[in-house]
Amino acid sequence: MAYNRKDRFFKKAKEEGFRSRAAYKLQEISKTFKILKPGLLVLDVGCAPGSWLQVISKEVGQHGKVIGVDLEPISHFSQKNIIFIEGDIREEITVQRILHALGRKVDVVVSDMAPHLSGIKFQDHYNSYELALQALQLCHLVLKEGGNFVTKIFPGEDLETLKQKLKESFAPIKEFIPGATRKTSTELYLVAKGFKNGRQKMGKGDGGLRGGGLSPFPVLHPRA
Ligand SMILES: C[S@@+](CC[C@H](N)C(=O)[O-])C[C@H]1O[C@@H](n2cnc3c(N)ncnc32)[C@H](O)[C@@H]1O
Repeated sequence: MAYNRKDRFFKKAKEEGFRSRAAYKLQEISKTFKILKPGLLVLDVGCAPGSWLQVISKEVGQHGKVIGVDLEPISHFSQKNIIFIEGDIREEITVQRILHALGRKVDVVVSDMAPHLSGIKFQDHYNSYELALQALQLCHLVLKEGGNFVTKIFPGEDLETLKQKLKESFAPIKEFIPGATRKTSTELYLVAKGFKNGRQKMGKGDGGLRGGGLSPFPVLHPRA
């Protein structure tokens, strides 16, 4: 089924100055699950072109901050509370740069990361599952106790495994499909609240960060 790329949300995003229609997905997630509020420190992985950064920047305000990370470069933001890091979150160098930019544990991690789509449903599902695991592993480095996590996944047979892994460290876990999601898309979001560190076991093949050997936060970059 062909989709209308220039649908209602596409046009609305253009009118309201958002870099993509994805802004409305995060707005809805945040409103429904009370994820964002003034003063928070947020990590946004897979942030390009930056519409989630725009939403987060506005919600956290001048006393909050958002650090965005993506493989792709993004155009500059004038907002002072947005910091961008270009890099692959699977690589240790990127994680080091994230830790350095944060300076303290974050209140929220959001991941809208998506793999390059192959069109093969199983492959796309598995690749998105692996990215979600990477984001979960980042939570174990950077998310504060009680913090919240939102991650995208294309559903498939590993969805239940991901939910089980999330349940080891968060409660409650909810599935959510925002209204702004394209009707042709199968993507969904898992919203995980109330982080408890130290419970999750990440084994081999669980999307371990390449390179390994990371010191636990905040040893690398204590606040100046
Ligand atoms: C759907 S887009 C994100 C849209 C974004 N939330 C927004 O509102 O503009 C998914 C992004 O995930 C990024 N991505 C995929 N794999 C990644 C990885 N390993 N590390 C960093 N970013 C990644 C892609 O480059 C892409 O820009």
